[in-house]
Amino acid sequence: MAQSKPLTRLTDSRVWRSVFRHGWPDNPLDRSLTMTSNIFFHLHPVKVSHKSLRWTYTFGLGIMATVLYSVLVFTGILLMFYYVPSVERAYPTMKEIQLSVPLGQFTRNMHRWAAHGMVLVVILHMARVFYTGAYKPPREFNWVIGVVLLLLTLGASFTGYLLPWDQLSYWAITVGANIAGYAPVAGPVMREILLGGTEVGQDTLIRFYTLHIALLPLSLVLLISVHLWRVRKDGGLAANDVPDAE
Ligand code: HEM
Repeated sequence: MAQSKPLTRLTDSRVWRSVFRHGWPDNPLDRSLTMTSNIFFHLHPVKVSHKSLRWTYTFGLGIMATVLYSVLVFTGILLMFYYVPSVERAYPTMKEIQLSVPLGQFTRNMHRWAAHGMVLVVILHMARVFYTGAYKPPREFNWVIGVVLLLLTLGASFTGYLLPWDQLSYWAITVGANIAGYAPVAGPVMREILLGGTEVGQDTLIRFYTLHIALLPLSLVLLISVHLWRVRKDGGLAANDVPDAE
């Protein structure tokens, strides 16, 4: 029977090799393989400038937006186990989540605060990108994707606001839809499309729910993926355009 070679290092084991296709990153080749064969590190080019790694260059705002989005998806799925999008049951199910579901209040608050946080963080990220001039070619297309991401984030916030079906949500959406209704020419049609009728009711709730849990999150995940891919394809952050002096 063939004797198997004794393992000298963890990185030589078959399990390690089946997950990581490189040895411990203590030499230039393994270091570069670590970057290119890992899905998260792969978001960075193999070589980056010192400036782009500085915390104060990005403040981690783009990554923060991505993390907040993941928190929203996770807590949102948990809330969906209990929430019922019907005008009779929406408010009572929200109360049930808060008062009798284990960790329900916590999950709801996480969802709410992550939503507020994401709106703030995405706006700050946009300001950072503008301030560092990263909207200029070749990143202008990614800037446009960013603008759509901002609109989708605001849309997710707006549609989620109606779901608790309390006085605050009801009147906020009534006012919001009326503002849309005052737009020239297309206003009244837009208002009706938004509400699914002439006033806020069951048709509006189901419409906002579908947008909130399906269409907007799916569009967000798709565009965030394209956005991150574009950052990579545009040579990483704009700060990398000026390499470090050797
Ligand atoms: C859901 C919203 C968004 C997410 C998750 C997101 C994520 C990211 C991440 C992770 C980066 C890498 C650098 C960093 O962390 O700053 C980035 C870069 C970038 N983002 Fe966003 N972003 C979002 C919205 C936006 C918006 C609203 C804009 C502008 C209108 C924008 C434009 C850009 C551009 C141009 C870059 C390249 C920056 C550079 O080269 O320095 N993004 N984004």
